[in-house]
Amino acid sequence: MIKLFVNVDHVATVREARKTYEPDPLEAAIIAEKAGAYGITAHLREDRRHVQDDDIRRLKDHITTPLNLEMAAVEEMVTIAIATKPFQVSIVPENRQEITTEGGLNILEQEGHLIEVGHNLKEMDILFSLFIDPDEDQVIAAKRVKADSIELNTGPYSESSSINATTQHLAQLRKAAMQAHELGLRVFAGHGLTIDNVPAIIRDVPWIEELNIGHHIISRSIFVGMDQSVRDMIDCIKSKMTLNVDKV
Ligand code: PXP
Repeated sequence: MIKLFVNVDHVATVREARKTYEPDPLEAAIIAEKAGAYGITAHLREDRRHVQDDDIRRLKDHITTPLNLEMAAVEEMVTIAIATKPFQVSIVPENRQEITTEGGLNILEQEGHLIEVGHNLKEMDILFSLFIDPDEDQVIAAKRVKADSIELNTGPYSESSSINATTQHLAQLRKAAMQAHELGLRVFAGHGLTIDNVPAIIRDVPWIEELNIGHHIISRSIFVGMDQSVRDMIDCIKSKMTLNVDKV
C-alpha cells in the first residue's frame, strides 16, 4: 500500500491570513492520522508564509506518525531539522516569489553542499529525501549525493491539459521512478495530486512508496471535513492499488 503523507501547510495558510490561532495545522494533522494517514508533511519556508517554527515543534511533539519536514537546503533550516529530529527531511528548492514549489532541485549545481547537508541529517538518523523533476541526470545525481529517496515532482503532470501531454509526463515519471528504483533509491511523488489524477500515477508508476498530498485534501476538507477528505484519498489509493499487482 502506498503511504499517504498529508501536507498541512494550507491549514496554516488560512490561519496566517488573519495572523491568528485558528485553524491549527496540528489539529488537522491529528484528524488526518486518525483517518489513516501514514504521516504528516509540513514545509517550513524561509519566509514563514504559512507554517511557523512553533508548528514544527508542536507537530513533532504531538503527532504519532512520522513527520516529513520539507525545507530548503540552507543552514538555518538544517539547524532547525537537527534540533527537531523529524523522521524525514525533504529538500526542496525555494524561491521567495513563487506561489508554491515550482520545480525540482538542480542537484548537479550543488552536489558538494547536498552531500554535506545529507551527512548532517543522517548523523541524526533523519532520512534524507530530494524533490526532483523526473530527469535522468537528477536521479543519478541524487544517488551520488547519497539521498535515501527522491520525491518526483508531479506538478507538470497535474497541470497538463491534453492527453498527449499527460501521457508524456506519465512516461517521464515512470522512467525516472524505474531508474531510481534500480539505483536503490526509494521513490516518492507529490505536487498537485488529486483524487482524479492519482489513479493514473498509481497505475503507471508502480515503484512509488509514498505520496505527499496537501492542497487538494485541505481544499476538499472545507466541504466534506478533514476526516472524510483524507479517507477519500486513502480509498482512492487503495482501490487503484488492487488493480496494480502485476504492474512492476
Ligand atoms: N511535495 C513537495 C515537495 C511540495 O513542495 C508540496 C507543496 O508544498 C507538495 C508535495 C504537496 O503539493 P500539493 O499541496 O499540491 O498537494
